[in-house]
Amino acid sequence: MKSYTAMALGYNLPMPLTIVILAAGQGKRMQSDLPKVLQPLAGRPLLQHVIATAQTLGPAAVHVVYGHGGERVREALAAAPVCWALQAEQRGTGHALAQAMPRIDDGDLVLVLYGDVPLIRTETLQALIAPAGPDAVTLLTAALDDPTGYGRIVRNARGQVQRIVEEKDATARQRRIREGNTGVLVAPAKRLRQWLARLKADNAQGELYLTDIVAMAVAEKVKVLPQVADNATEVLGVNDRLQLAEVEAAYRARRARALLLAGVTLVDPLRIDVRGELEVGRDTQIDVNVVFEGRVRLGHRVSIGPNCVIRDSEIGDDSVVFPNCVIERANIGPGCRIGPFARFRPSSTLARGVHVGNFVEVKNSVLGAGSKSNHLTYLGDAVIGSGVNVGAGTVTCNYDGVNKSQTHIDDGAFIGSGSMLVAPVRIGARATIGAGSTITKDTPPDKLTLERSKQVTIDAWQRPTKKG
Ligand code: UD1
Ligand code: CA
Repeated sequence: MKSYTAMALGYNLPMPLTIVILAAGQGKRMQSDLPKVLQPLAGRPLLQHVIATAQTLGPAAVHVVYGHGGERVREALAAAPVCWALQAEQRGTGHALAQAMPRIDDGDLVLVLYGDVPLIRTETLQALIAPAGPDAVTLLTAALDDPTGYGRIVRNARGQVQRIVEEKDATARQRRIREGNTGVLVAPAKRLRQWLARLKADNAQGELYLTDIVAMAVAEKVKVLPQVADNATEVLGVNDRLQLAEVEAAYRARRARALLLAGVTLVDPLRIDVRGELEVGRDTQIDVNVVFEGRVRLGHRVSIGPNCVIRDSEIGDDSVVFPNCVIERANIGPGCRIGPFARFRPSSTLARGVHVGNFVEVKNSVLGAGSKSNHLTYLGDAVIGSGVNVGAGTVTCNYDGVNKSQTHIDDGAFIGSGSMLVAPVRIGARATIGAGSTITKDTPPDKLTLERSKQVTIDAWQRPTKKG
């Protein structure tokens, strides 16, 4: 027998697992030029969420059946470790799965997922796989308040599943069944291959229905084991933008809940968006309308004010980010004070206790411990030592229209307000720059340097008076 990697993931896998994600549907109701499975959920394509969940199960392989918008889908997910199977014409879910079967071993279990059902959880799938085997089909079903549009699970008097009937083929009585087919199922490849070969399109939609394999399994006395999903949200499919928004809200709530349970204070769990990976220390507080993208790490006792966007950054213990900051690829040390209205463009590093205040833009710069730039300033390509004070309205003139150059400001320097530091230039340690200076040459340490025309007062001057 092969050794199954999934064993290491802590659940029992009776046979090697192959996952097939059906993603060839057109998604007409999205009314979009973008293929449905590329529509973004939390900033990433729907299909990418499903692939990521599939990978957590430790499968032998993941196949994606694609068709509509084909090349665009493959390009968008070129980095994904999956095998692609083209379904040139959309002839139904059974036909779609059949496109992937030639590359699947008879000895495998096949788990079918949908590219437009992105919230499905690893735990649910593990529970579905556990009782599967060479002589069983397991189905994920859902108890639905409104089952409109779903295939219905038809059970006999003893509660055993007999078959799945699609809504368009259902009798009035069958339509009253509230148990819907999620479409997610597990079946042994060997039998599946035989069943798929026998599917017929003699139904209301003229399609090859994957769901028809259930009646075939029953006829062959193969066990059909239904599992009712704990919550219907998890199996929500995306067919239009209303459902996309609902799925986004459910995703947001799921991420917020996990943060709350991990000890993070969220002022309003409905108003935080986590679009990537967020790691947070203890007793950190996040105010309303904060968006996290990419990989973000917040330390202990950090406070993030309202309306911040933080992407691919780290913020150290006890740092405070005031409202309305945009922070991208910054590594902010402990005990810093940022904003309000500060902007970090990639990529900057701040040591301990740095203050970057309102309307300050920082790009590709380093600020040493305890340095301050509190107002209306641009710091680009700057290497700033510790204990530096940058006055209001300072600009590092880093670009001559062709090349970028660095500004060095050494430890303990004081830059007077309204100074232009024309790079490349170095301000010596503990130097003071007089306000309003345009500095084009390196300045010595410990001295006052200023560049300023003399102030004059015109004694004979008179304020003009209104003519006529
Ligand atoms: C399907 C199920 C239905 C279930 C519902 C749940 C069948 C026959 N019906 O119906 O029982 O309640 O999903 O949402 O399986 N796809 C392809 N190629 C095709 C057709 C579909 O790849 O030729 C893909 C779609 O991209 C989608 C999935 O299969 O990811 C489901 O297709 P969809 O058309 O939405 O199926 P439903 O009619 O909703
Ligand atoms: Ca559907």
